[in-house]
This record gives sequence, structure tokens and C-alpha cells, in this order.
Amino acid sequence: MARFIGAPSTEEVVFVRGATEAINLVAQSWGGANLKPGDRIMLSMLEHHSNIVPWQMIAARTGAGIDVAPLTEDGRIDLDAMAAMLTERHKLVALAHVSNVLGSVLDARRAADLAHKVGAKLLLDGCQAVPRMAVDVAALGCDFYTFSGHKLYGPTGIGVLWARGEILEAMPPWQGGGAMIDKVSFARTTYAPPPARFEAGTPHVVGVLGLDAAIEYVETIGLGAIAAHEAALVRETRDALSALNSVRLFGPEDSAGIVSFAIEGVHPHDIGTILDESRVAIRAGHHCAQPLMAHLGVEATARASFGVYNGVQDVEALVRGIARVTRIFG
Ligand SMILES: Cc1ncc(COP(=O)(O)O)c(C=O)c1O
Repeated sequence: MARFIGAPSTEEVVFVRGATEAINLVAQSWGGANLKPGDRIMLSMLEHHSNIVPWQMIAARTGAGIDVAPLTEDGRIDLDAMAAMLTERHKLVALAHVSNVLGSVLDARRAADLAHKVGAKLLLDGCQAVPRMAVDVAALGCDFYTFSGHKLYGPTGIGVLWARGEILEAMPPWQGGGAMIDKVSFARTTYAPPPARFEAGTPHVVGVLGLDAAIEYVETIGLGAIAAHEAALVRETRDALSALNSVRLFGPEDSAGIVSFAIEGVHPHDIGTILDESRVAIRAGHHCAQPLMAHLGVEATARASFGVYNGVQDVEALVRGIARVTRIFG
């Protein structure tokens, strides 16, 4: 796992249930120890709820506040605007590496430089990045990186938190129990060094082995090849859908593997149901990103999300299905 994400040491890789648990761990452990009243946490408008709510919870506990970086017109995190907002009071910046709604890819290196310039740490939510591009945490320059196994063709219930060694070393335990201790007595309990300190209880051995198999699978295909394959499918899809007057496309032209759209006068759930009848499976809803939906001025979007198993024939089926939606709804 360490090699897969370019981590310098296996000691820096903590197995968790998924990105949600990883972010809660960082918020409660690192945030609980490092945030104080008046400190600020920088998020962005496109974050998944799992990269919003844990910060709201720790902000309420510590007296820290939250700022929200805006988006550019085409749906990227606006790093120029964020640079102007960041101050020495910001202790943490937490951003999606790739948006699960818009597919926009963050300039993570620049985000790291901006965060570090004011003395803040950078957490990247890599859920949608690891299945779509080669990730090297050392090159990205971030301080925390998280992802979930089931978005990487692996099992549910397993995920990874990576953090810089010295940061993990200084973090207090979050959950207590077996396997995370050094010595236990009623007088005094001492804790194991990381990563064991953060892996209380019986480990999810099956999940880790499943995730290992998934990594072998994507590495056999090659993440460069996967990125190019999905980029080509996104291009085809955006070209085809932008030719249809009634379709509104969200996100930047070069979005990674994800195309969100809306059809005028048709609820995304109806789009999903009709496409389903044509054997095209999309996701419809708020995608756990309600603040982003409010920003876009919609309640929900329809979202095509590509994987290694998709081909041009799937794009064609999607476009045929959308033509059917527009026929049915006149
Ligand atoms: C960008 C992003 N972040 C976080 C999550 C949360 O992942 P999990 O529910 O596996 O913890 C998801 C899952 O939908 C996601 O797409």
C-alpha cells in the first residue's frame, strides 16, 4: 500500500474502514490536539459530506472556524481565491483531489504550497483520484491522504489513511482497545507507535487482502493507461452531450472519469430510471455534496462515472438513452 501511493514508509499507512473514518480520525485526533478557538479550517465548495461534517464536529468541539474556498466558473477549486483567503490562523486545508461530482482534478502541488506557506497542513481526499491516476504522496507534498477500497475495485469496509511519519507520531490515539497499546494497567496505559496506535481492535484482514488484489489489478492495467482510457471516454461523452440543447454539463472539459449533467425539465432520478431501462447505470442524486448542489442551483445531478470496464459502446448507449429521455419528456 505504501508503494502504491508513494509513501516513504509502511509505518505511515493506517488501515481504516474508508475515507470517512480516515477523515474523522484526523479531525478527532490531530484536530483535537492542534485546533483551538480562533483557528481556521479551509475546505472547498465541492467537498463530499465526509470532508465537511467531521470538520464541523471538531470545529464545534475546539472553537475553530471553517472557511470555504469558492470554485472557478468551470468547477475547479479556485486556488487563486483560496490563496487570498488563507491566513496564519489556518491550521488545516482539506480538499478533494478529484471531485466525485464534477471530476475536476486539483492542482495538489500548488494547494500544498499554499497551505504550507501559512503553516497549515494539507489533507487530500483521494477517493476519486486513486482509481483514476497514479498518486505519489511525496510528489504531491500533502500531509494526509485518504481513500476507500471500494472505489478502487476493492472491497467495502477497508480504506487507507496516510500521514507524514512525524505527524502520526505526535497524534494521540483516537479509538482505544486491543492491538493499539504498548502496556495496559489501571494505573497507566501506554500506546503502541503508529500505525498500530490507530488500528484498535481485530484488523480487517480480509479487506486488506482484497484491497491488495485490487491494487494488483489496476497496476497490471497501469494507472497511466486507465487515466488515458477514462479521459477519452469523458471527451466522447462531453462532445456528444454538449451537442444536445437540453443537456447542461457540469465540471471542466478535462474532468477525470466523471461527467455530471442535467436535462432541462427532467428530474435526475427520472433520467436514471429511464437510462436503467436501457441498461445504462448512472448515479442520480446529491452525491453527498449538498453544498455543491446549492452552489450549482440544482437539487441533484445525473452522473456518468467511468471505470476500466467501460468502452465507447457504453458512451453510445448513454447518448441513445438520453435521446430517449428527451423523447419521453418531449
Ligand atoms: C470524494 C469522496 N470522498 C469521500 C467519500 C466517502 O467514502 P466512504 O463512504 O467510502 O468513506 C466518497 C464516497 O462517495 C467520495 O467520493
